Amino acid sequence: MPVLEVEGLSKTYYSDGRGTTAIRRLDFAVEEHEFVSIVGPSGCGKTTLLKCVSGLLTPSGGRTMIRGAEVTSPPPEMAVVFQDYSRSLFPWLTVRKNVALPLRRRSISGKDRVVRESLEAVGLGKVPDHYPWQLSGGMQQRVAIARALAYQPKVLLMDEPFASVDAQTRAELEDLVLSVRSEFGVTIVFVTHDIDEAVYMSDRVLVLSPPPCEIQETLVIDLPLPRDQITTKAEPAFASYRARVYRAIQEGPALQAQRRAIDGSTTGDGAPGQPELSPTSR
Ligand SMILES: Nc1ncnc2c1ncn2[C@@H]1O[C@H](COP(=O)(O)OP(=O)(O)OP(=O)(O)O)[C@@H](O)[C@H]1O
Ligand SMILES: [Mg+2]
Repeated sequence: MPVLEVEGLSKTYYSDGRGTTAIRRLDFAVEEHEFVSIVGPSGCGKTTLLKCVSGLLTPSGGRTMIRGAEVTSPPPEMAVVFQDYSRSLFPWLTVRKNVALPLRRRSISGKDRVVRESLEAVGLGKVPDHYPWQLSGGMQQRVAIARALAYQPKVLLMDEPFASVDAQTRAELEDLVLSVRSEFGVTIVFVTHDIDEAVYMSDRVLVLSPPPCEIQETLVIDLPLPRDQITTKAEPAFASYRARVYRAIQEGPALQAQRRAIDGSTTGDGAPGQPELSPTSR
């Protein structure tokens, strides 16, 4: 049975009597230990999707399930890392206390040890008593990742987690997440704007259409594990996957217009987003 299932998911936001359909109809499943990346144009509904999957938002239609049970509130076995670390860490708490915070309600034995090991896993073993504002952006994002690790999730959702860090830090964090994944066997759903990153990290890449989003294309990434920033990216197959994802994104608006013409759909009044993706953002 898949760990995560999304069935006929739709989400419309209502405000001032007007509806914006962010997600039109999504169906996919994620298997245990799988790494699935989600790419798509800005505003197509990626964050909305993660919020529905994590029980932070109620879908307008369809459902999401964890191990066959419908998600109606944040599932205990799931952690989420958001893009904006500056808003996700508490500035008045030390690094150690930020990481320990979500464990208050968890019955995990040896919480102090878990916090210490999580910080060591992300290379921050030496700064547990610093405050977030004493750390660089990349270090703060590591704290957010350590906090998710300490929680010992079975499923980790990450929403553009490395968008605000420099290229070198980004590559290090990519490899950190890959090593965490293989060490702890976590199932990961990862939203990114970076096509290279999606191909490098994933077992599967889902390309979403412009809003309201549907799955436009699914690519299975059959590159050898473990991945390596230099050798993996030098593989001819890597360039070919990258080109396929890029092409799928470029073709998105035209394909969606065709689909709408065929089914005469008027679903959704969200303005079509402009793809903001590039083959690489580095
Ligand atoms: N709280 C809200 N109320 C109304 N509309 C919203 C709300 N949140 C998101 N939307 C709309 O839903 C659509 C999808 O937004 P979402 O944030 O999920 O996109 P995204 O794919 O994550 O974009 P980005 O790549 O820029 O992060 C957009 O049209 C957005 O304006
Ligand atoms: Mg988003």
